[in-house]
Amino acid sequence: MRHLLGIEGLRRSEIEALLDRAEAHLHGSPDASHVLRGKVVANLFFEDSTRTRTSFEMAAHALGAEVLNWTMAGSSVSKGETLLDTARNIEATGPVALIIRHRSSGAPHLVARHVRCAVVNAGDGTHEHPSQALLDAFTLRRRWGRFDGRTVLIIGDILHSRVARSNLHCLTALGAKVVLCGPPTLLPPGLESLGARVTSRLDDVLPEADAVMCLRVQSERQSESFFPSAREFSRLFGLNAARAERLKPEALVMHPGPMNRGVEIAPAVADGPHSVILEQVAHGVAVRRAVLEVVCR
Ligand code: CP
Repeated sequence: MRHLLGIEGLRRSEIEALLDRAEAHLHGSPDASHVLRGKVVANLFFEDSTRTRTSFEMAAHALGAEVLNWTMAGSSVSKGETLLDTARNIEATGPVALIIRHRSSGAPHLVARHVRCAVVNAGDGTHEHPSQALLDAFTLRRRWGRFDGRTVLIIGDILHSRVARSNLHCLTALGAKVVLCGPPTLLPPGLESLGARVTSRLDDVLPEADAVMCLRVQSERQSESFFPSAREFSRLFGLNAARAERLKPEALVMHPGPMNRGVEIAPAVADGPHSVILEQVAHGVAVRRAVLEVVCR
């Protein structure tokens, strides 16, 4: 694997190999601090990030690498420099990998065709967020062991969610059933052909779920209104305390972050006994160590 641009197209065995490596990194054994010693990993974030950027940085440090943290603010993008020129100029300084987040779907794929170093997609537009799906799968696998017979319910703004798309590919490849639920205006056509069951009837499907993944409403990607108001969305599709009562006792509640507390998820649920949201974040470092180790080999 020279790049990690998406989950679509990865074989189950490739995903499982990455999760196995992440498991080894989580236990810190064997010591991996020599893997990228003397090398540089460059973070190129054209969009804001808290979790993904910091965990790639921590992962690179744990493998012994230096990290170049490029951000759009203060860069020559403001003078009109293109994505490709930016990426190729950063590559010219010698990193072994570019970790790219961009608002345009396909941006990391374009860069990967024009550089020699590894490229990792850290989230491209509404397309994919592969390392997020891997850390979500890692969190579920650590809890469940296996995915067969498990149902993951993903709720909310499916239309604009790269997390939903990557998770759909990842979880179905691993053998789980995926149910996508949201307002009809936020459910793009064609999801059934990718293996999902699609519904707008949240209260009907909640009791079936072994895990529920709430998605943020991505207002920054919406030029028009897809539902009447945040209050209306929350009333119909928010995971509140009353809905959480209808979950299986052992069901897991997930969120990729950042959360809109009180919109797609109530604070009492986000911080409640079903929640594994901070576990997801913690696992992100081990999973991203595995990703860097594989693509920089
Ligand atoms: N889940 C996720 O991508 O979070 P950040 O935007 O903070 O990186």
